[in-house]
Amino acid sequence: MSSTRKRVLVTGGAGFLGSHLCERLVAAGNDVLCVDNYFTGRKDNVAPLLSCPQFEALRHDVCFPLYVEVDEIYNLACPASPIHYQHDPVQTTKTSVSGAINMLGLAKRLRAKIFQASTSEVYGDPSVHPQTEEYRGNVNPIGPRACYDEGKRCAETLFFDYYRQHRLRIRVARIFNTYGPRMHPNDGRVVSNFIVQALKGEAITIYGDGEQTRAFCYVDDLIEGFIRLMAAPDEVTGPINLGNPVETTVGELARMVIALVGSRSKLEHRPLPVDDPVQRCPDIARARDILGWQPRVPLETGLKNTIQYFDRLLTEDKALAAVKA
Ligand SMILES: NC(=O)c1ccc[n+]([C@@H]2O[C@H](COP(=O)([O-])OP(=O)(O)OC[C@H]3O[C@@H](n4cnc5c(N)ncnc54)[C@H](O)[C@@H]3O)[C@@H](O)[C@H]2O)c1
Repeated sequence: MSSTRKRVLVTGGAGFLGSHLCERLVAAGNDVLCVDNYFTGRKDNVAPLLSCPQFEALRHDVCFPLYVEVDEIYNLACPASPIHYQHDPVQTTKTSVSGAINMLGLAKRLRAKIFQASTSEVYGDPSVHPQTEEYRGNVNPIGPRACYDEGKRCAETLFFDYYRQHRLRIRVARIFNTYGPRMHPNDGRVVSNFIVQALKGEAITIYGDGEQTRAFCYVDDLIEGFIRLMAAPDEVTGPINLGNPVETTVGELARMVIALVGSRSKLEHRPLPVDDPVQRCPDIARARDILGWQPRVPLETGLKNTIQYFDRLLTEDKALAAVKA
């Protein structure tokens, strides 16, 4: 065994980001244990890894304690899109809070390094643009998004209390909108929604006037940020913003997707959902200075890869439906 080969646990490893992370960790020669309850994750996402002896998948809910031996933990388990995290809000808070307690307890027992996938949602509907890590946020604690936002905020609190109280080696990343292959096709996130609608030739639904901005980071860039943060010296606890500081309006994104797909879809406007932030953009000065990290993949390239993935997925679905008919 090489001296750099580590045993790494990835919770939520069968999800969108988790599966890319597992792939990257296996490619780097690590032993990877993917833990997932498949609430939003899919076995298909990690199917190519199953034949690899360095990879192992375990069905488990992080709300319950887990006893395994690993050197590093990436805690990603949590549904990430409003449709999914609002489906069972109590379970969402439990996943964030009990999941963090269980994974931090495991890290404490093993003296393992532990990474938390936090979110830009901890800033709520921000009154400061772009958001630096010092900004404390503007979260509605009783709204429909609170189960996710407050769950993630509490998880950060737990990470920093374990750091101060038990000298745990922690890394907290605040992730902004990320897109790429293996996003869930029906999770209501703007990039997947637009691509699927454009590929099906359906109207593209824009909530509000389309002038709200988002900053979209391609998944490969984000995973590079995870790896760099985990490898950083122990004093680099975070929180550290990871995302793309280049803002795009939702309307612009829709037009770009239509052009890249070559679709005839029309734009259709609907009312904005409750607590939907109008602008969200990371200040990534910290990530640049400390990790030497910044997104590199242009939106157009990332969108092309993502469109290719969804195109294949929809073709497979059609083929499957034809076989069943
Ligand atoms: N994708 C983004 O833009 C984004 C932005 C900010 C934060 N994040 C965070 O990154 C992480 C991964 O997000 P994603 O986009 O890959 O979402 P995802 O829904 O694809 O992945 C989450 C994974 O966690 C699993 N999971 C959910 N509850 C679980 C539980 N109780 N026990 C075990 N597994 C459980 C799901 O089955 C899924 O595989 C999440 O923690 C999310 O909050 C993602």
